[in-house]
Amino acid sequence: MIELKHVSKSFGSLTVLDDISLTIPHGETTAIIGPSGTGKSVTLKLIVGLLAPDAGEVRCFGVDMARARERELYRVRRRFGMLFQDGALFDSMTVGENIAFPLVHHHPELTAAQRRKKVEEKLELVELPGVYDRPTAALSGGQRKRVGLARAIITEPEVVLFDEPNSGLDPLTSNAIDALIVRMKEVMGVTFVVISHDIVGTINIADHIAMLSGGKVVEWGPTPQFVRSSNPIVRGFLERNLVLPEGPGDVTSLPQAR
Ligand SMILES: Nc1ncnc2c1ncn2[C@@H]1O[C@H](COP(=O)(O)OP(=O)(O)OP(=O)(O)O)[C@@H](O)[C@H]1O
Ligand SMILES: [Mg+2]
Repeated sequence: MIELKHVSKSFGSLTVLDDISLTIPHGETTAIIGPSGTGKSVTLKLIVGLLAPDAGEVRCFGVDMARARERELYRVRRRFGMLFQDGALFDSMTVGENIAFPLVHHHPELTAAQRRKKVEEKLELVELPGVYDRPTAALSGGQRKRVGLARAIITEPEVVLFDEPNSGLDPLTSNAIDALIVRMKEVMGVTFVVISHDIVGTINIADHIAMLSGGKVVEWGPTPQFVRSSNPIVRGFLERNLVLPEGPGDVTSLPQAR
């Protein structure tokens, strides 16, 4: 459904991605991890066609995202929900208007009352009821994040891309977001691609983990296999972000956050 084939991307003299290939399994959660500045956010933007690769191709639902016509791109994007790293909310709108925005764009057939009902449902889901008419500028950082999440899932997309859904959230809210991801995957069969710095949370929610480092996918596989990787780059990264047993360990001995 989502496939990156021999993708390279540079900005000026900076090569961010150097011939990476990755297949995102349908109906499962894939996490992309790696040090800051390794191209995780760039990878998500390539997937939705906001950036074009210099070489290689990104195919979503069979469509070559860099070469697709506007109409085709629109049809693919309808099937995606995306939470950007910075939230990307419009401060000039109310919370409700922000969340309803993709609905207005992609489902013009809905009435205002139908839209409001859907928005209220999603606000319940992210545990932020009663803020529909609040000005977006008045929200706290964690609340903004949850509003961004509600907006990403408002159209009930088949694929949800989350760039750091947990960053800046308190542990309770962060756990609630992780639980939401697991529930949506199980109940609605949603395919998730999640970028996260929260390694323990990632291990708990991801079916597959890909690690980017130095412009390459240095490791990629099912989570239990990934955490046992003997690749020194992976071990170094995991050990810096987790207290791990020495060397490739048993996944059951990993610290459980929740
Ligand atoms: N539009 C752009 N123009 C120029 N450089 C860019 C652009 N987008 C990203 N970069 C550069 O590409 C590199 C990778 O950026 P990216 O945002 O993908 O990192 P990241 O892995 O998401 O990091 P973080 O964990 O800090 O969010 C960075 O050096 C960044 O400065
Ligand atoms: Mg990023």
